[in-house]
Amino acid sequence: MLINDGKNIQPEHQAIGVFDSGVGGLSVLAHIRARLPDERFIYVADSNFMPYGCKSDALVQERCLSIAAFFAEQSCKALVVACNTATAIAIHRLRERYAWPVIGMEPAVKPAVRHSQTGVVGILATSGTINSHKFNRLRQRVAGDTRLIVQPCPGLVELIEQGELNSPAIRLMLQACLRPLMQQNVDTLVLGCTHYPFVGALIREIVGEHMTIVDSGAAIARELQRQLLERGLLSKQYTSAQMGGEGFWSSGDIQRVEPLMSRLWGEVVVLKKLPF
Ligand code: DGL
Repeated sequence: MLINDGKNIQPEHQAIGVFDSGVGGLSVLAHIRARLPDERFIYVADSNFMPYGCKSDALVQERCLSIAAFFAEQSCKALVVACNTATAIAIHRLRERYAWPVIGMEPAVKPAVRHSQTGVVGILATSGTINSHKFNRLRQRVAGDTRLIVQPCPGLVELIEQGELNSPAIRLMLQACLRPLMQQNVDTLVLGCTHYPFVGALIREIVGEHMTIVDSGAAIARELQRQLLERGLLSKQYTSAQMGGEGFWSSGDIQRVEPLMSRLWGEVVVLKKLPF
């Protein structure tokens, strides 16, 4: 059954649901907010079940469906899965069930292959993404003659969730992940997890100024805008009033997550507890 609970409400009164296993999706929401300032957003961090990368597919799918049901209760008009791992494991289940635009993340391998001069591209991602069929199909489809070196970073998402954006521990971990890529002539690096842009400055410091670093945030924002426009769902088409804004929810410990989200979002975030 395809559900679209918000269909009797005017699009300018409907929010867009955006979620991730934790705070990583805020890096995507920042691109979306900049592109669509008139829209309202509900962001869910599933902090109590983070990281998704080492959970079973069944559990990740169940969490994604519960979060989508929550967005349906709030009469959302579109859904952004701001998590590469959840997209790889669960987006087909969400698209089966919901008639809204459902936009997912895909590591920016295609643009990286196009851009690379050395013909060697590095990809940082979680093992959940790396082991998924969706990612392996993408690799086969777009690699051509380019060598793709895939590097998992176990523990990196957890450190970012602890607010360690520039600690000695995270520096050591990133050096260990990036050194093998630098030694193999990689000139273009894909950040295949939405948490990683939050340590982009540290990554840049380690790899130096000549490596190109790409992520998918801007492309996802463009794709969301395109699909909303195509379906007549953009708030801007209905009103010139500035109605934009965000609401933030988390399944985790509010005392812990709220300050971290405020720091990463760059504004004071008032976080509500997700009831499941
Ligand atoms: N931000 C998520 C991603 O893009 C992290 C995944 C996880 O929780 O393991 O993949």
